[in-house]
This record gives sequence, C-alpha cells and structure tokens, in this order.
Amino acid sequence: MKLFDLTGRTAIVTGGAGSLGSAVAKGLAAAGAKVAVADLQQESADRIRDEIARGGGRAAGIACDSAREADVATLFDKAEAELGPVDILVNAVACPIARHQPQDVTLETFQGLQDGILKCFFLTCREAGRRMIAAKRPGSIVNFGSIGGENALGRGAMPYGVAKAGVGQLTRELAFAWARHGIRVNAILPCQFMNSMWAAQKASPETSELLKTVTRGIPIGRFGEPEEVVGPVIFLASGAASMVTGVLLPVDGGNLAMNAGGSVEW
Ligand SMILES: NC(=O)c1ccc[n+]([C@@H]2O[C@H](COP(=O)([O-])OP(=O)(O)OC[C@H]3O[C@@H](n4cnc5c(N)ncnc54)[C@H](O)[C@@H]3O)[C@@H](O)[C@H]2O)c1
Repeated sequence: MKLFDLTGRTAIVTGGAGSLGSAVAKGLAAAGAKVAVADLQQESADRIRDEIARGGGRAAGIACDSAREADVATLFDKAEAELGPVDILVNAVACPIARHQPQDVTLETFQGLQDGILKCFFLTCREAGRRMIAAKRPGSIVNFGSIGGENALGRGAMPYGVAKAGVGQLTRELAFAWARHGIRVNAILPCQFMNSMWAAQKASPETSELLKTVTRGIPIGRFGEPEEVVGPVIFLASGAASMVTGVLLPVDGGNLAMNAGGSVEW
C-alpha cells in the first residue's frame, strides 16, 4: 500500500465541495495528504474540511472562484501558508449546462461553458505548474474530463463536450511540456456519476427516462457512485503512477469500449 501513500503531500481539490470533488478530497486525506478544499462558497468548503478533520485528517477550506485569476493565486498562497507547498492538484469544478440544439447555441452560452470549465482548469493548472517549476518540486495534476469530451453526447450538450475535449488536450499538452520538470498531468474520464443534477433528473417524471437511456450506454449497467472515482485519482496522484503522464483514463463502466451499435446478443 506504500505505493499509494500520500503522507506529507499537500493537495488542492477545486470543486472540492461537489459530489465527486468532496469524495476525492476525503479520499486523498484518507491516503495521508493534507487537503485544501477549494470551492465557490466558504461554508461548503469548510463543511468538507470539517468532515476530513473529524476523520483525523488535515485540511483547509478555501473560497475560490477558479475562473478568476486573482482568486487562483490567492488559493495557492493560502493553501501553501496553511498546509505547505502544493504537490497535487485535482480539478473537479463543474458548471450548469444549458441545453440547446447546436444551431441555437448563443455565443454567450458557448463562452459560458468554456469559462466555467476550460478556463478554470487552465488557470489552476498554470498556477500549479508555475509554482512547482519555480520550486523545482515534482508534482501531479489530475483533471476531471468526461466521456462527453471523447464522443458526442448530443441532447444539447455540445458546448460542454467541446470544453471537456479542451480539458483532454490541455492535459496532453501540459504532460508533454512539464514532464522534464517532473510534473505529471493526467485526466480521468467519468461516465455518468450520481450527483445533485442527476438526482434531480431521476426524481422528475419529465427527465427520469433519460437515466434509463444513459444506463444503456454503460456496460456495467449502472451510474457510478462518487466514491468510485477516488481509487483512480489516488493512483494517478501517487507514486504508483510515477511513469504515467498524459493519460486520459476512462472511469466509465465500459462506455468508451462499447461500439454505438454494439450488443452482446446476436
Ligand atoms: N457527475 C457526472 O456525471 C460527471 C460525468 C463526467 C464528468 N464529470 C466531471 O466531474 C467533475 C465533478 O463533477 P460533479 O458531478 O462533482 O459536479 P458537482 O456539480 O456536484 O460539483 C461541482 C463543484 O464545483 C463547484 N464550482 C463550480 N464552479 C466553480 C468555480 N468557478 N470555482 C470553484 N468551484 C466551482 C461547485 O460549487 C460544486 O461544488 C466536473 O468536472 C464534471 O464535469 C462529472
């Protein structure tokens, strides 16, 4: 288990109060890391910080809008002051998706998704890279991409898919450029994981059918649960993945392995 031990490392998790981000923050702390939980609201970041502290871990709650350059610099300053130099960055920010046919997408909607996702990931990755390179410290960055960045989700999610494809390419570019500095950059590509948005869609008669359609696209036959992203993130963040960089790892119950017309019946 030493391979996966993060004792003494400092991690920042952006979107750390969200469904998947909070599971990751708690998981990294359980693996020994000191964790800065970064999210839009101080109270929600503090709630996860307190949960980690109750479990015996060390954490800080930091309010940060990852889309604001100044906030991102302050986030790293505060995390370093409270927990020490940052070794691990996990980006798990998400923003609401407005659904439109591609021909009806306004520039504002399109730009909103690029700002709400891709810009956030770029700013925090750049800040982490700058600091790790200046300090000559190795590090690991894990970005939350999506299966929706690899092929078309449809159902009005085009700007989201484009932003997530951008996260994938950001990951590859940084992995290549920063390998010589000992900074590994990887992404995980989740399929649909239960979060507050999906829970609301499940509860509504108008959208509950969609969950059945989505589940048919996951060979394992169910949505992921937030805890199921923790192992892959710890692996990529830890010494167990010391030779792994530039990888976009599907955590998708087999979704990307499946041909659109695939079937086990013949
Ligand atoms: N849940 C899924 O089905 C799924 C599938 C594929 C990919 N993903 C990706 O996984 C990641 C986590 O998703 P989730 O389901 O936990 O979402 P979520 O909505 O539960 O959590 C997202 C968190 O990000 C925070 N946030 C939003 N904008 C922010 C900003 N500018 N700065 C700081 N924090 C901000 C929110 O406050 C929230 O706490 C996202 O990148 C998402 O795109 C999720």
